[in-house]
Amino acid sequence: MEKYNFEDIKDRVVVITGSGRGIGKSTAECFASYGAKVVISDMDADVCEQTTAELKSAGCDVIGVVANITKEEDVAKLMKAPIDKWGKIDCLVNNAGITKDTLFIRMKLEQWRLVQEVIVTGTYLCCKEAVNYMRKLRTGNIINISSFVRNGNVGQVNYSSAKAALIGLTRTLAKELGSMGIRANCVAPGFIETRMTDTVPEKMVEDLKKMISLKRMGLPKDVANAILFLSSDMSSYITGETLEVNGGL
Ligand SMILES: NC(=O)c1ccc[n+]([C@@H]2O[C@H](COP(=O)([O-])OP(=O)(O)OC[C@H]3O[C@@H](n4cnc5c(N)ncnc54)[C@H](O)[C@@H]3O)[C@@H](O)[C@H]2O)c1
Repeated sequence: MEKYNFEDIKDRVVVITGSGRGIGKSTAECFASYGAKVVISDMDADVCEQTTAELKSAGCDVIGVVANITKEEDVAKLMKAPIDKWGKIDCLVNNAGITKDTLFIRMKLEQWRLVQEVIVTGTYLCCKEAVNYMRKLRTGNIINISSFVRNGNVGQVNYSSAKAALIGLTRTLAKELGSMGIRANCVAPGFIETRMTDTVPEKMVEDLKKMISLKRMGLPKDVANAILFLSSDMSSYITGETLEVNGGL
């Protein structure tokens, strides 16, 4: 009988942006626990080094690369690191993201541009560089982290539009790169317990939980598990899709 499991993840080379903390860190731990080789990367050097050291001391095969995904030279360095060490990139997880929330009528062009720059341009640059390597081996997998609030959310016109853009970007990559053996999918988390959400007022958290079918916020590992699924052969016939991880929000 054929075997069904995540064994193919072992020895896969995975680059995860913004993996010094939060969802990215949990995703790095998830992949490493299945024996993958992981590139931990963040623009925050402290958390990048700390997470890399933690996983190394747990016996995982990881390297850390400090990189700001909005800078072409940083992205080039980031994607070259696994090529130099392991000769390939099997999977790219575009996870790094920021928020600069304010109501539309108060939003400054700078707040708009910064969020678009990190989420849309940063993801574009990482895909571009990684695909240059992936297409040579005619295999690869891209997971972009969108968000439930791509559907629109008060105070997040910059963020929701950037996260919606990732869906179009991903679907286009799926169409263009499928014949090269490269898949591209999105994960759209709902309301996840990380630094990004820890300033949300308690009352708002309670109101939000009432709207979530499972009546709790998500954990970073809830998202990590979905990313793992989309990067493994368990999802080998899925591309151009968006997997919602929101507890039924
Ligand atoms: N937490 C949530 O509820 C939630 C919901 C939906 C989507 N998301 C998305 O999930 C992803 C991870 O979010 P999180 O909650 O773990 O946030 P987080 O703030 O805990 O972690 C994000 C990490 O990205 C890094 N980063 C930011 N800008 C960067 C850049 N230009 N270059 C490199 N690294 C950069 C930060 O230093 C940080 O370590 C983001 O894309 C976020 O938009 C989060």
